[in-house]
Amino acid sequence: MQERTVKAYGKLNLTLDVLGRRDDGYHNLRMVMQTVELADALTIAIGTGRALQVSTNLGFLPNNAKNLAASAALRFQEATGRDLGGFSVHIQKTIPVCAGMGGGSSDAAAVLRALNEMTGAGLSDMELARVGEQVGSDVPYCVFGGTALAEGRGERLTRLPALPACWVALCKPGFSISTPELFSRIDGVKVRHHPDTAGMLGALEAGELSDVARRIYNVFEPVLSPRQKKEVQEIKNLLLQHGALGAGMSGTGPTVFGLYTEKGPAQAAVRELQGLYRDVFLTRTV
Ligand code: C5P
Repeated sequence: MQERTVKAYGKLNLTLDVLGRRDDGYHNLRMVMQTVELADALTIAIGTGRALQVSTNLGFLPNNAKNLAASAALRFQEATGRDLGGFSVHIQKTIPVCAGMGGGSSDAAAVLRALNEMTGAGLSDMELARVGEQVGSDVPYCVFGGTALAEGRGERLTRLPALPACWVALCKPGFSISTPELFSRIDGVKVRHHPDTAGMLGALEAGELSDVARRIYNVFEPVLSPRQKKEVQEIKNLLLQHGALGAGMSGTGPTVFGLYTEKGPAQAAVRELQGLYRDVFLTRTV
């Protein structure tokens, strides 16, 4: 038996644009993504000689092949033709669940990377990303990590200059959102305001954090219900009042984040939010 513990980092969307619905039911997207230090820890074993085993520290997560980490292991076996001789994973979740931070996708990507090393299969990052695509749309990005532009379903990736190092305060509001429901809501409206993706790419190229931060924008925010919108706006206001250079919602939400040059103000925002919400974190970009 071989065992190892690896980290799976969370992601944020600096921008999220929906370009249109496709014939396959998915949507063409354009998103600037960024990895943060906030991470789950996965203990992965192969050669266990037992059927697939999945466990997590959160009772409500699937502990079978429906868990993206397990699905990734099964896809890896299929893609490489290697029998893992039994696979187990224990996931210690820290990244908020169903929060727009790519937690499940990142767990899946971490499994793919770990299995690639443990088995000596030698797949390239690109090949691992292709396997990951079958598990979920955000998995290919999570295989690469860092600062990247994701297009198409999310699988067409372009590496971008790294976001200048900064502190991140993040907070998951008290409500949850269904991703398919949010996509169908956006199908029913005319998206009036799009993120300035070209401007965002220019700001990253120039290494100007404040120019990046003020371009943070997510097309899903306007289609939230009035109550959800109000809650997101209140968190954004609090982050900005504490000196965030910019703030926005990540992915299909509901996590809201703000970027800061200094740790102190980010910490002060986090302290205040911790009095109001359960899932509040201070982290940094990776
Ligand atoms: O690919 P994944 O399983 O993560 O997607 C979850 C859901 O999000 C899909 O079933 C679809 O409703 C929506 N989605 C989409 N277009 C994308 C990615 C996801 O419509 N590019």
